[in-house]
Amino acid sequence: MKPLSVMLSMLAIGITSSTVMAEGANLPNASLPNVSPANSELVNRGAYIARAADCMACHGESYTGGTAIETPMGDIYSTNITPSKRYGIGNYTEADLKNALQKGRAPSHMLYPAMPYPSYSGMKEEDISALFAYLQTVPAVDEAPKQKTDLPFPFNIRSLMIGWNFLNVPSTEKRDGLNETQKRGEYLVNNLEHCGTCHTPRNSTMGFNKKMYLSGAQLGHWHAPNITPDESSGIGSWSEQDIVTYLRTGELDQRAYAGGPMGEAVAHSTRYLKNEDLSAIASYLKAVPAIQTDDKVSAVDVSRLPTPINESITHDLLAQKDYLAQAKTEVSNGSNSPEALYLAACGSCHGVDGYGQPDARYAPIVGLSSIRREKPDALVNMILHGVEGATDTSPIMPGFSEELNSEQIAGIANYVRVNFAGLANSKVSAADVDRIATTGVEKPFLIKYAGLLAIIGIIVAILVIIFIIRAILRSKRRR
Ligand code: HEC
Ligand code: HEC
Ligand code: HEC
Repeated sequence: MKPLSVMLSMLAIGITSSTVMAEGANLPNASLPNVSPANSELVNRGAYIARAADCMACHGESYTGGTAIETPMGDIYSTNITPSKRYGIGNYTEADLKNALQKGRAPSHMLYPAMPYPSYSGMKEEDISALFAYLQTVPAVDEAPKQKTDLPFPFNIRSLMIGWNFLNVPSTEKRDGLNETQKRGEYLVNNLEHCGTCHTPRNSTMGFNKKMYLSGAQLGHWHAPNITPDESSGIGSWSEQDIVTYLRTGELDQRAYAGGPMGEAVAHSTRYLKNEDLSAIASYLKAVPAIQTDDKVSAVDVSRLPTPINESITHDLLAQKDYLAQAKTEVSNGSNSPEALYLAACGSCHGVDGYGQPDARYAPIVGLSSIRREKPDALVNMILHGVEGATDTSPIMPGFSEELNSEQIAGIANYVRVNFAGLANSKVSAADVDRIATTGVEKPFLIKYAGLLAIIGIIVAILVIIFIIRAILRSKRRR
């Protein structure tokens, strides 16, 4: 990486985009795109439902599809849902849309649950009507998505989903004893926003593990944390206002940051929600059962966080450049000092003291939950694989799996956790980094061996049929 060009591009980004994410609490919701006084009230309500159900995260802001959803079975591509008659859903009736959303059934085939119908199954009729009216008004795009789903046997047999649906739809249950606000929150969390598709771990059939509802799950290289109100491993220490601020702005100062898939959920969806809906989500998240997991997160100890070096150095990249240049020289002379490695690899974006470059939109990382967790997996994965920005114009963090070895990555992780997260100590080792680099690559047993199991199943079925026929013939002969 070329530091100067990185810095220049950072400055350029800072100048061109000062309006990305507003800060602070009680902010007005971002104004909803696609809403216009020229449209009927029903259509505008549908535009809000599309945001709240985050259709754009997968079908794209123009609804033309083509986004790959990674699954252990292979990539599943979202489809064009513009009103194009040939390539989109222009021939859909409202009942067709209802079947697709609630039952995972398109007019000609069963859908894969990469389309979150197990969550949408609880969508209200009136919301589907509004959504249908709205989808008629988006510009039709007569173009097929660039990629088509092509899963290996037996997953290419879409009717298998009928059996899967029987086991796993609906994916959530309604809780008893909620007040009206919490009921609204439950509807948003479980049905529209489908938060559980990322935050609830899966069972062996890849459906929700309902006993571990919202207690955190691994998503490829990302970890969606425990968001139950558990004090030690969840978000028990967050106030309702903290949750609202995080969902509105994508960050909580010195506490948490919404990167990767969560950054997308905020950018496409939650930042547009009305305050009362965000409050309803927060109130519901406080009412779900607390689940303790082994991924504890230590409380922020403000006294141990670094103090910004001084206004000009913390917030001025050019003033930092001598520090960075010196560290780079040390590293190229063979130094493995974690501080020098941090400065050389990370400092140009996150700053010498971790406070980042607010003007250039690079995230301050001081105190963030992702560097305070007992398991270093989330942090190490970010260093290995980088962070894609949530939107086309978001800044990107590169991955370092090629550039740095496991020992160096472990050193940086320890440096960051102790110096910027206030942990008393951190013992990430090169072996931990190697383990993290290879986990998630293993597929669940049923999926890995599904082809084999399907063939065995067919052979067993044939044997059973032969056995039955012979038994019938024998009993006839006896008669
Ligand atoms: C998490 C990703 C995701 C989200 C969110 C999502 N979809 Fe989908 N959707 C998909 C995928 C993937 C497919 C294709 C599934 C397949 O091939 O079986 C799909 C297919 C569909 C289809 C079937 C189209 C056809 O082939 O006839 C419709 C209709 C649809 N989505 C509408 C919506 C609407 C409306 C929303 C928002 C309420 C939404 N989707 C949200 C991923 C998503
Ligand atoms: C597409 C997957 C995805 C969806 C959908 C999603 N999340 Fe997340 N969420 C994540 C990931 C990944 C993180 C970790 C982000 C990071 O550390 O940068 C996260 C982080 C969070 C955090 C911060 C927790 C902490 O300890 O720092 C909260 C709170 C949260 N999500 C709530 C929600 C809620 C509420 C919803 C539904 C409205 C939701 N998420 C939907 C993937 C998702
Ligand atoms: C080219 C600039 C750049 C470099 C170099 C860089 N980062 Fe980042 N980093 C970012 C950006 C941008 C984000 C926020 C990404 C987003 O918008 O989702 C980020 C986010 C993070 C986060 C917060 C993730 C979360 O979601 O909680 C951590 C922790 C982090 N970086 C650590 C590091 C470490 C450690 C290094 C050095 C090995 C490093 N970064 C190098 C740009 C950079």
